[in-house]
Amino acid sequence: TPDVTFTCKDALSEANNLTNSVRSRKCCPPNIGKKVKPFVFPNEKTVRMRWPAHQGTFEQVDKYRRAIQAMRDLPDDHPHSFNNQAKVHCAYCNGYYNQIDSGFPHIDIHIHNSWLFFPFHRWYLYFYERILGKLINDPTFALPFWKWDEPSGMRIPEIFIPENVNGKPNPLYDVYRDARHIKEVVIDLDYDRKDKFVPDEIQIAYNLCTIYRDLIRNGGDTISFFGGVYIAGDSPVSNNDPSVGSVEAGSHTAVHRWVGDATKPLFEDMGNFYSAGYDPVFYIHHVNVDRMWKLWKDLGLPGHKDPTERDWLNASYVFYDENEELVRVYNKDSVDLKKFKYDYIENSEQVLMWQA
Ligand code: C2O
Repeated sequence: TPDVTFTCKDALSEANNLTNSVRSRKCCPPNIGKKVKPFVFPNEKTVRMRWPAHQGTFEQVDKYRRAIQAMRDLPDDHPHSFNNQAKVHCAYCNGYYNQIDSGFPHIDIHIHNSWLFFPFHRWYLYFYERILGKLINDPTFALPFWKWDEPSGMRIPEIFIPENVNGKPNPLYDVYRDARHIKEVVIDLDYDRKDKFVPDEIQIAYNLCTIYRDLIRNGGDTISFFGGVYIAGDSPVSNNDPSVGSVEAGSHTAVHRWVGDATKPLFEDMGNFYSAGYDPVFYIHHVNVDRMWKLWKDLGLPGHKDPTERDWLNASYVFYDENEELVRVYNKDSVDLKKFKYDYIENSEQVLMWQA
C-alpha cells in the first residue's frame, strides 16, 4: 500500500535541481510532529457551487478576492498561510516526503505522472476551498474554475490580470507569469513552449480537438485516463513516461507551461512543480482539471471507470483541514463527489463543444 507518510525532509531540496529558484525551496509544513487524525466528510446541507472564472458575478469575485487576501494576510507560519498552501504542492511533488510507512524510506513520493494525480489534487483543492471559506466566514464559499474547454474561457480569466483593483494590489495577481500570454491571448492547450501564432479561431478549434483527445481518444480506459500504476516501492516515473494520464500529459501540462514565466530558468510560477502553488491561477486551473475527471465519468463511455485496485484505493495523503487539524485522506474516498458537498455550475444549454 502506498502511504504518504508524515515525514518531511527539507534537506533534500538541495539535491533537487532547483538552483536559481525565485521561491523558497523549503517546503515542509509547520508542526510536522502533530498527531494525524482520521478524516470525516462534511455534514452540510448546502453544496458549494464552483463557478466559471470568466463569468463570475460581482459577489463571487469579491468573495474570492477577499478570501485570497485574507490568506495572504495570515502570519507566514500559519498552516493556512498563502505560502504554506503553496508549499503543499512542492512537498508532494519535489521529493520532500518518502514512503517510510510502507517500508521504503529511501524512495520519494511524487504524485504526478501516475494514477495519484487526480485524487491528490481533488483533496488538495477540497481543503483549500474550505480554508478560504472559513477565512471569510462563508460556509457556501466555492472556488472558480478556469473553463479552458469553452471558447469564451480560453484566456487567462480577467480577474487575475490587473495588478491593482480600486487602487489596491489585486490578490489574484502574480508577477511570475509569461508576459506574452496574459491579456486577450487565446491559450494553446497543446503548448510545448513554442507559440503557434495562428488566428484565434484556429487556436480555438485546435483546443477543442485537444480536449476531445484528452477525454475521449487518449482517455478510453482507466489507466490511460488516470495514469499508470504507482505503488509502494516504485520510484517516481519520469516526465515523459507513457503512464502519465491523458489529461495530465495533455491540456493540464500545457496550461502550466503556457502561464509560467519563460524568462525564468525554472519557469516560475506555474511552469514548475515546486512553485506552481504560488500563482492563484494554479488552483483555478486544477479546479477545471478536477472537473475534467467529473465530465469524463459523466460521459459514461465504456471504459470510463474509476480505478478499483486496492493499491489505488488505499493510497493516502495528509493535509491540514480548515480547522488546522492534520487529517489523513484516502483515494478510495475521493471518487464520490456528492460526499464532498461541492459541484460545478454548468451551462445546461451549452453543448460541450469538443464533443461536436
Ligand atoms: Cu500538481 Cu498541475 O500539478
